[in-house]
Amino acid sequence: MSPLLLLLLGLLPLLLCLLRGRNRRDGEPPLVKGWIPFIGKALEFGKDAHKFLEEHKKKFGDIFTVQIAGKYMTFIMDPLLYPSIVKHGKQLDFHEFSNKVAPYTFGYSPMNRSFSGLREQVQRSFHLLQGDSLTLLTESMMGNLKLVFRQDHMERDGGWRSGSMYDFCHSVMFEATLLTMYGRPPASRRHGGVDTLRNNFISFDKKFPLLIAQIPIWLLGRTKAVRDKLIHFFLHVSGWSNTSQFIRRRAEIFEQYDTLRDVDKAAHHFAIFWASVGNTVPATFWTLYHLVSHPVALQAVRQEIQDVLRQDGVGWSSDGDVTLGRQQLERLLFLESAIRESLRLSSASMNIRVAQEDFGLRLDGERSVAVRKGDFIALYPQSMHLDPEVYQNPQMFRFDRYMQDGQQKTNFYKNGQKLKYYLMPFGSGSSKCPGRHFALNEIKQFVCLLLLYFDLQLEDGQPRASLDTSRAGLGVLLPNVDVRFRYRLRTQQLD
Ligand code: HEM
Repeated sequence: MSPLLLLLLGLLPLLLCLLRGRNRRDGEPPLVKGWIPFIGKALEFGKDAHKFLEEHKKKFGDIFTVQIAGKYMTFIMDPLLYPSIVKHGKQLDFHEFSNKVAPYTFGYSPMNRSFSGLREQVQRSFHLLQGDSLTLLTESMMGNLKLVFRQDHMERDGGWRSGSMYDFCHSVMFEATLLTMYGRPPASRRHGGVDTLRNNFISFDKKFPLLIAQIPIWLLGRTKAVRDKLIHFFLHVSGWSNTSQFIRRRAEIFEQYDTLRDVDKAAHHFAIFWASVGNTVPATFWTLYHLVSHPVALQAVRQEIQDVLRQDGVGWSSDGDVTLGRQQLERLLFLESAIRESLRLSSASMNIRVAQEDFGLRLDGERSVAVRKGDFIALYPQSMHLDPEVYQNPQMFRFDRYMQDGQQKTNFYKNGQKLKYYLMPFGSGSSKCPGRHFALNEIKQFVCLLLLYFDLQLEDGQPRASLDTSRAGLGVLLPNVDVRFRYRLRTQQLD
């Protein structure tokens, strides 16, 4: 027997012990390890995270730790306990996780010491997605949506056209968002090669969950080549016009760092572009799909849009032009409720925090649990979104679920107690999505234009779309199949 093999045999018990992982200590939550060393429960969790967590909640209660791919994740399942996690700012950090995962996924150098202050400046630039800048972004999005709709979908032949709904939402929102955030090449209204860019994006997006799981990119076929092409597209941002304040500010920040290569800057731009469409497109699809599947809801929302326009004296006809500004969008409460309801039914983002030290995590007046440095603390709001105690008939789409007495409804309960957090598609606390107001506005604008200008129908004889769970934990889920639908220009005036 070779000396090396002998050594390995000698070390085997120690190796197995290390791979088997840790044991539960006093004060720690129940520990679920699975029978495969290191991998733990990763496969079961990856298959259907919601089902997995519900089953374990029944068995272990509201707090338990699961070994997943070498990490220990403590899930807090009771939404009444969410506030204690969100407010544990210093001991539970979000950025440690994102700073490790994002550079690997999007292909830029990690933000280490040679980029001192970069992360803080980037964080500060997020205010340019809100306030007055949001008004400008929203105006610009309206123009770009109309441009894409008019040039691609509004030929006036009077007949029905048919299409695939997800693809339709993707093509319009993808390009209109690109133009709004990044601008356009000088002397042209649209970018060339958008179809290729979109195809590359879709193919990258399919591998996104594997990249987030840190699977080596060389194992993922052409993904590296596709990502390089996507990054390359954003090398030219500085030469484009009509670029949003947000992207211009980011580009200025990048210029302060000689250590950032051009390709890193472009990869940062690509990362933000992914953030701005990766969830917005499926959220737009689900809103449209639910509305078209529920004619009463569709009619109520269409009526609300027409009422707001009429109140403001905006004349509109299907062959004319219409603009809905930020103030008008804010008054579309039924539409907002329908979007929130669609997000409730389709979003599956996980909120992750990393424990910065060993400490006792206080959950409420009586309870606290021990956590170890480096452990992940995770909230999985989909469990709350589909909890029948919080939402009656949780699988049902009710477009007015978030409406009460003509106002937005904000009181939802669990165990008779009012929930502080009852809808969390955009994350929470320090890591809450800075683009959430823009996302809501652009989905509203898309739906308004579609409902004002088009009659819409689902084609008969097709299965209902359900959730594709392959990116559970990472945001809004995609549909498992695309849906065929028909649309034709309306001839009606405002009634
Ligand atoms: C329906 C659409 C959207 C959804 C559901 C969504 C959801 C999220 C979630 C869950 C996070 C992470 C929060 C966490 O881990 O706790 C996030 C982060 C982020 N989102 Fe969004 N998002 C959407 C649209 C947008 C848009 C339109 C933009 C930009 C224009 C955007 C920009 C960002 C950025 C920059 C971050 C990272 C924030 C940070 O590093 O602190 N998102 N988003």
